[in-house]
Amino acid sequence: MSTVTVTFVLHDGEEIEASGAAGSTVLELAQSAGVEIEGACEGNMACSTCHVVVDETSFSSLPEPTEDEEEMLDLATGLKRTSRLGCQIEVSPAVDGMRLEVPRESRNMMGL
Ligand code: FES
Repeated sequence: MSTVTVTFVLHDGEEIEASGAAGSTVLELAQSAGVEIEGACEGNMACSTCHVVVDETSFSSLPEPTEDEEEMLDLATGLKRTSRLGCQIEVSPAVDGMRLEVPRESRNMMGL
């Protein structure tokens, strides 16, 4: 199985690289690399604490978000055109090198 590498860009400019098998989610990669993305509902699309902003090129290579994802995203603060829920993005070789901004607002929103 191929390995995909992505880079998380934190709000203070720090960059953290994370690699994982194709088919892993961005949330899983973040958690394995110690990136503070909360993912409060653990991928059940019941929060928006896994909100990330995808770079333009990779965004267009990703499958379209579902309507449910769009609805959850509407609740996220700091929403941008290329915003996605990290738990809904499965990485694949097509998005190797993807850059993901982690908005400050996605942290600790639920106080957990
Ligand atoms: S972890 Fe809650 S929607 Fe992604």
